[in-house]
Amino acid sequence: MPKISLKKLNFLKKNKIGISALTSYDASFAKLADNCGIDIILVGDSLGEVIQGNPNTHSVTMNDMCYHTKIVSKAIKKAFLIADMPKNSYKTKNQALKNAKKLVAKNMADMVKIEFQEKDVEIVEHLISHNILVCSHIGILPQTIKNKSDYKKIGKTRSEANRLINEAMLIEKLGSQMLIVECIDEQVAKIISEKLYIPTIGIGSGKSCDGQIRVIYDIFEISFNGVPGFLKSKNKKLNPMKIILEKYITNTNKYKI
Ligand code: KIV
Repeated sequence: MPKISLKKLNFLKKNKIGISALTSYDASFAKLADNCGIDIILVGDSLGEVIQGNPNTHSVTMNDMCYHTKIVSKAIKKAFLIADMPKNSYKTKNQALKNAKKLVAKNMADMVKIEFQEKDVEIVEHLISHNILVCSHIGILPQTIKNKSDYKKIGKTRSEANRLINEAMLIEKLGSQMLIVECIDEQVAKIISEKLYIPTIGIGSGKSCDGQIRVIYDIFEISFNGVPGFLKSKNKKLNPMKIILEKYITNTNKYKI
């Protein structure tokens, strides 16, 4: 199967075929997701939490992102690869371009992602004008939030909803080719997904986005800072990773006797 292109992702949106996306940070999980047929892999700065064990993503550096993007890109054959620009790596347009180039160099990432705020208009324009594909992230922006407990759904009031819809339309107009919507009201996510031509990928934003993204460790319910409420299984004993590990530990004890 050929590598998934942006054209293919736009085709999936147009034909209402769900786009699947997952984060990965290492070769083994990336290969597993790729072999299972995932459309998009994001090397997310969530690695600050799930790999580094920090309370948030703020400490992640460009060196971290380059390291993880390199090892993931070497391990996958088909998935479209996005790499996060970490906090403080896109404060000016020149800094953003220099850092984005590091992530897309030598066929590593296909696209970079930024957490979009009003001040980032010229950053997006600058990257696009230098042929860097950009995914913008709206809604809850983890780079501005200290702890998981600060997460709350946004877009419930009319003014917040209008702000998000206008922001999404501006982002498309600026030339961003994809939008991540995190933790926003389902109705607002639906309106945004219907209004935009570019694919919208949701997390904690309901079922109406063009695709869904999850942190891979959340799927296995092993994330360091806990799993988001919308993903927790009712029966904790069914966690597949725990079952495999517990079986291994029990068997190891048996061999000792
Ligand atoms: O860093 C990350 O994993 C992300 C996803 C939650 C979308 O930005």
